[in-house]
Amino acid sequence: MNSSKIIDGKVVASELRQKIKTLGSDFIESVKSKPGLAVVLVGENPASQVYVRNKILQTKEVGFISYEYKYPENISQEELLNLIKKLNSDLAINGILVQLPLPKHIDSVKVLDMICPSKDVDGFHAINVGKLWTGLDALIPCTPLGCSILIKRELGDISGANAVVIGRSDIVGKPMSSLLLKANASVTIVHSKTKDLESVCSKADILVAAVGVPNMVRSSWVKKGATVIDVGINRIEVDGKKRLVGDVDYENVIGVAGKITPVPGGVGPMTIACLLLNTLNAARAQHKMDAIKLDSLF
Ligand code: GUN
Repeated sequence: MNSSKIIDGKVVASELRQKIKTLGSDFIESVKSKPGLAVVLVGENPASQVYVRNKILQTKEVGFISYEYKYPENISQEELLNLIKKLNSDLAINGILVQLPLPKHIDSVKVLDMICPSKDVDGFHAINVGKLWTGLDALIPCTPLGCSILIKRELGDISGANAVVIGRSDIVGKPMSSLLLKANASVTIVHSKTKDLESVCSKADILVAAVGVPNMVRSSWVKKGATVIDVGINRIEVDGKKRLVGDVDYENVIGVAGKITPVPGGVGPMTIACLLLNTLNAARAQHKMDAIKLDSLF
């Protein structure tokens, strides 16, 4: 059986961080200040704690300044909104990230919409969402941006390719579809109500899975030679051992797909690298400099 090419997100992310570090040094030299990223964490969600720890570590590693704001679960919405207002007007802070999910008593949409769009390094603000869909320069959500970079590196021009995105979340599915459309792919979004998922997915040249269901995409769902991008990060237990698996049944799809991202080590590392890229681009825009062209990064 032919084996798929494994797309090594760790290597690509590490190269990207190195380039960001170099571009960041040029930026620091010219404006005499370091890009600053504020990360806000509310509560004790273990997965969020791990993500935030890694975001902070890597921010420092590329030579940017990390500002950390950690609050207990019971912080009021008003306190959180006041913090965002303060960060919005702080010139040392170029990017603001509020780790999701937030506790139930807090309206996430209100909090995210309070972030100044020019500092919205997650790309979740309605202004950035609108700009992305209308083709204007925007801060783009980090995970789909990371997937796009992997796809561009692996496939080059994807004009006319059939792309299927499984999942319609605001964080991944919707912005991913927009980016694929911008690259001239024919895009289909499928979700839990779609009829005959398998038949739609099996026609995809590019299949992006972002649903959060362990091993959902079986080998029969994948066209021979397709590029499969697995965004899922699911913690499951197999034979009493904790394991991290994606949304794709990796062991079986690996002989069918042409190229595939593993979990862990595929899309995951790209997300944080893209957060750093967004932080640098936010800082550049705030100093009236153009965004870094994606094509110049690889
Ligand atoms: N929680 C899960 N993914 C993300 C993300 O990309 N950004 C933020 N802020 N929270 C998340």
